[in-house]
Amino acid sequence: MKPIYYPEPFRIKSVEPLHILSREEREEKIRAAHYNVFALASRDVYIDLLTDSGTGAMSTDQWAGVMVGDESYAGADCYFKVQDAAKEIFGLPYIQLVHQGRAAEKVLLPILLAGKKYAIANMHFDTTRAHVELAGARAIDCVTPEALDTTAQYDFKGNMDVARLEGYIKELGAENIGAVIMTITNNSAGGQPVSVENIRETRDLAHRYGIPFMIDAARYAENAYFVKQREAEFKNSTIPAIVRAMFEGADCFTMSAKKDAIVNMGGLIGCRDGKIFEAVKQRCISFEGFTTYGGMSGRDIEALARGLKEGIDEHYLKYRIGQMQYLAARLDEAGIAYQSPVGGHAVFVDAKKLLPHIPYFEFPAQALAIELYLEAGIRACDIGSFMLGNDPDTGKQLKADFEFTRLAIPRRVYTQSHLDVIADALINIKERAAEIRGYKIVEEPPILRHFTAKLAPLA
Ligand code: F0G
Repeated sequence: MKPIYYPEPFRIKSVEPLHILSREEREEKIRAAHYNVFALASRDVYIDLLTDSGTGAMSTDQWAGVMVGDESYAGADCYFKVQDAAKEIFGLPYIQLVHQGRAAEKVLLPILLAGKKYAIANMHFDTTRAHVELAGARAIDCVTPEALDTTAQYDFKGNMDVARLEGYIKELGAENIGAVIMTITNNSAGGQPVSVENIRETRDLAHRYGIPFMIDAARYAENAYFVKQREAEFKNSTIPAIVRAMFEGADCFTMSAKKDAIVNMGGLIGCRDGKIFEAVKQRCISFEGFTTYGGMSGRDIEALARGLKEGIDEHYLKYRIGQMQYLAARLDEAGIAYQSPVGGHAVFVDAKKLLPHIPYFEFPAQALAIELYLEAGIRACDIGSFMLGNDPDTGKQLKADFEFTRLAIPRRVYTQSHLDVIADALINIKERAAEIRGYKIVEEPPILRHFTAKLAPLA
């Protein structure tokens, strides 16, 4: 019996034309981009899976909101709307707008980490790690070991390894740890969910040692949907009730609204403690602008207030996660491995398994991303050794735990036919996998090299 996926709970009112280049043209474009997908012009891409961040399609209601957005410098109407929506959804009493997720990190993390040496997370997203380090602390990842085996079937591969977390707290000293952070869903492990049970255990452990518990809420709504499907306690709960359970007792959160609030730009900080919030507001004014707009236009704030509610609609989430599940099922049929069960915002193809003859220092996940572009004009990216870079002390290439080619699916943008193109392209690539060669780096900057490095194919 064929599983039923949930179709789009919307119809299309406005379309954006796409360009389809020939194979020869794509060969020329990727060569000119020095085999770095970030150097491709978007007009030369057919299906863009570089990220699900800020690439979603807004609804008619959000676009209508753009027109009524209040552009007043202070106390705009849309400011109050977003305050009401966020307080109702998350249950934290203090909310600050910022322009995106990393801005939230830049404002909040130095407050939590002042005089501290460590932050410990299930996994830090790259920008979170960067802001922990910029605040003078070290970022430690403590994900459940099941996450490391891409074929292991486990419901909550995003979870914190709570026993190991307690070990770190004892070893490093609770007084040296500025925050315990839960990233939901866990992007770096493959968009994998975290159970409410694990959130509660982690929060309680942090609190027992007097450490603030922070949530990175970028994909909180997708997480809530998985909780409803997989955690017995919540099978009859509504999505808003699950979200409340996830945030219960959290001291603060940062959120990139570019994901689950389905806007092209925006972010939020939430706090429970009034003193911390005062410090947040002061830092926000210097980096992001006055507190009632926080780096955003009124029209974008209005769209955010509306998008927050659309992002937790269960019909939408069923369709959204259903898209990942549809694509994953097509890969299952073809025997193509990915981080499974599939996560909430992307399919993370296991390039190590598809291209076993390419060693990590010849970047199998990057090689697969380039093949996807050549095959069908699809832009994906490497989440593996190419992205990880070199050891800062020895200058030697580091070996990543995973070699993922991430197919991040923008929200409400691509149809099931597009998903079929992606699956068919991967199947064609699998058939000629043995012929695919690795890459070498010919030029690279010292940090965050994957954005600008130049590569060349190996003979
Ligand atoms: N936290 C998580 C878990 C993220 O995935 C991201 C961004 C951020 C924070 C930072 O948010 O981009 O609004 O500043 N992730 C994007 C991605 C870029 O492609 O996964 P931002």
